[in-house]
Amino acid sequence: MKVLVLGNGGREHALVWKLRQSPRVAKLYCAPGNGGIADEAECLPVDLKNLDSIVAVGAQVRPDLTVVGPELPLTLGVVDEFSRRGWPAFGPTKAAAQLEASKSFAKEFLQRHRIPTAPYAICDSVEEVRAALAHFHAPVVVKADGLAAGKGVVIAVSKEEAAGVAAEMFSGKMVGEAGLRVVLEECLKGDELSFLVLSDGERVAPLVAAQDHKRVGDGDTGPNTGGMGAYSTQNIIDDKMRDWLVHHIACPVVEGMKAEGAEFKGVLYCGLMMTARGPMVLEFNCRFGDPETQPILMRLESDLVDALEASIAGRVSEGDFKWSRDASVCVVMASGGYPGTFEVGKKIMGLDEAGAVDGVKVFHAGTSKRDGSFYTAGGRVLGVSARAPDLQAAVERAYRACEKIRFDGAHYRKDIAARAMKK
Ligand code: AMP
Ligand code: GLY
Repeated sequence: MKVLVLGNGGREHALVWKLRQSPRVAKLYCAPGNGGIADEAECLPVDLKNLDSIVAVGAQVRPDLTVVGPELPLTLGVVDEFSRRGWPAFGPTKAAAQLEASKSFAKEFLQRHRIPTAPYAICDSVEEVRAALAHFHAPVVVKADGLAAGKGVVIAVSKEEAAGVAAEMFSGKMVGEAGLRVVLEECLKGDELSFLVLSDGERVAPLVAAQDHKRVGDGDTGPNTGGMGAYSTQNIIDDKMRDWLVHHIACPVVEGMKAEGAEFKGVLYCGLMMTARGPMVLEFNCRFGDPETQPILMRLESDLVDALEASIAGRVSEGDFKWSRDASVCVVMASGGYPGTFEVGKKIMGLDEAGAVDGVKVFHAGTSKRDGSFYTAGGRVLGVSARAPDLQAAVERAYRACEKIRFDGAHYRKDIAARAMKK
């Protein structure tokens, strides 16, 4: 069969790498892809912000299966358009993707269905923010309602700061239209968990849990990023917790969406805070996480195509995934300056040596290839990933590989999974 992956990040490289292992895949395309993906799939140019451009790629490939990586094409309705043309596509419809595209929609949905989440207020003006702040204690989380590529959430230490951040969001200068509505939220404390499930609109099958590292600096310091690294192990959560999350969070979401006429198919990514009062939903994503997908897929032993097709066909069951008991980790190497401004076009060296380390796979995110060499082309450049029988060994392998890679300005966190190993 012909499979098309949409996207150009480390997540899409991991999807391509895993899909290629399926005996059912005869031809693999990625649009637009990146330097590293081009070694494993045929890359086609596309503008992922433009639905017509994506449909044109579909018409060219006529895929038997399309896997959408990033949220933007999903919220534009790529699954609706492809399905209408008879091209099976994995992921939620535009209506169901609202769970990620609008934080106010998600919060009101959670409240309607009594799914645990932080107390909140939805505001459309600075005056509303000032009035609502009376009901909060600092610190207060200020969120842009719409998609902001990880830059739409600020934890304000004081109410004054919260009002200032909200004013900046409303001005449109901070995150554009995404910030014209703002959600205020109580700040929750605890460990974060990325809990992803595969859904067919009715049933869910959980993926192995993972933990992301959102802040740019060691010890969770500095600004938020798209994610600087992630790991997955057998014991991030136990079976009891997994079942609780399935029955009290994932299933109610899927049932609620169906009841409201927007059946959710695809990967439902529940971003959770494990608080002293129990797990609470921070956000939903309507897709695979990046970088969580890299360690998660490194542990997947069954055929990914079968699972994705089960979601489309409405026959998801718990047995869709077979997982390795190994641990896995992904360390993101980023461009100097990321998540702020950064330069691109730096030559990357040492990739072959890094890839030769036992159990290591280097996923490309922001890279391009010219004359046989790789160059940086984005903020997050590489996801250096490793699998091993235990977490410590996986972490050692990943960092051994990182040390072999060089490019101007490269930086990466040195403490991915460190807190888990201490426990
Ligand atoms: P979100 O895009 O909503 O997941 O927010 C991005 C990040 O901001 C999360 O991964 C958390 O690290 C942090 N965050 C979001 N909401 C809260 C909250 N209510 N309390 C504490 N931290 C939060
Ligand atoms: N790693 C967080 C995300 O994919 O949104």
